[in-house]
Amino acid sequence: MSAAPGRPQASSHRSPQGEGNLMSAAPGRPQASSHRSPLVLHAHGVVAGYSPEVDILNGVNLSVHQAEMVTVVGPNGAGKSTLLKAIVGLVKLKQGHITLQGRDIAGLRASAVARSGLGYVPQRENVFETLSVRENLEIGLTPRTDLDLGDRLAVMYGLFPRLAERLLQPAGNLSGGERQMLAMARALMPDPKVLLLDEPTAGLAPRFVQAMFEQVAAINRAGVSILMVEQNARPALAMSHRGYVLDLGRNAYEGSGQSLLDDPKVAQLYLGGGR
Ligand SMILES: Nc1ncnc2c1ncn2[C@@H]1O[C@H](COP(=O)(O)OP(=O)(O)O)[C@@H](O)[C@H]1O
Ligand SMILES: [Mg+2]
Repeated sequence: MSAAPGRPQASSHRSPQGEGNLMSAAPGRPQASSHRSPLVLHAHGVVAGYSPEVDILNGVNLSVHQAEMVTVVGPNGAGKSTLLKAIVGLVKLKQGHITLQGRDIAGLRASAVARSGLGYVPQRENVFETLSVRENLEIGLTPRTDLDLGDRLAVMYGLFPRLAERLLQPAGNLSGGERQMLAMARALMPDPKVLLLDEPTAGLAPRFVQAMFEQVAAINRAGVSILMVEQNARPALAMSHRGYVLDLGRNAYEGSGQSLLDDPKVAQLYLGGGR
């Protein structure tokens, strides 16, 4: 939590030089994952859709390692949101496997998935508007009766100081950015291993986009693995250890965030051309 905002840095365990390299990482450029940190979330051969006839995901593979920041980009309708929903059990798998810390979570109810260590922030309708900020956070803790409410609230106030100033406000009164922060905090209340974010900057005024990415980077630096879907593909990949391009429900490209940004084909096809 000591790194400067706006400078996502890889955890030292990922550093090629090993310990002590944390501060020498290039600003704004997370180091490539060595893949040596343990696998936390793994999706393999995922086929899923909303009807028996139509498959939206046609065999998607994806992995997230301990403390990794991973971004999925791709055209509208590629199946990015559907992939997150399949991972959290809101869309049923037709084929494939999803494991969280080695445990098969496919077929579990969404509440059981949340208990097992996955946090999920959908793109829309991600807070209870008529309830206060604090009530939203309390409800977030529901999957984990073993955790102390006061302890978890204190962690959230540390990560999201703006929310701490608005505890009694109805969530519906918050700005778009604050609401998105509340949705993240709610999802973090049960202390998940992995946080899934569906377009956290969607609908935000451009001047708030960077602040939201910095907030996501801070959550990652606090040790939470992140799987993020983003339309703001360039800044999202720039702050990510690894990324995937999803197209037509299939893996199209994958690599370190920087290698995807540097790939002329990826830039031309998925990042709006030039650099
Ligand atoms: N609830 C739904 N019922 C039926 N089809 C859906 C539903 N949600 C999404 N789709 C379809 O699934 C495809 C992928 O959508 P989505 O996963 O939202 O894409 P992305 O998030 O990459 O833009 C699109 O063709 C979309 O129309
Ligand atoms: Mg989507």
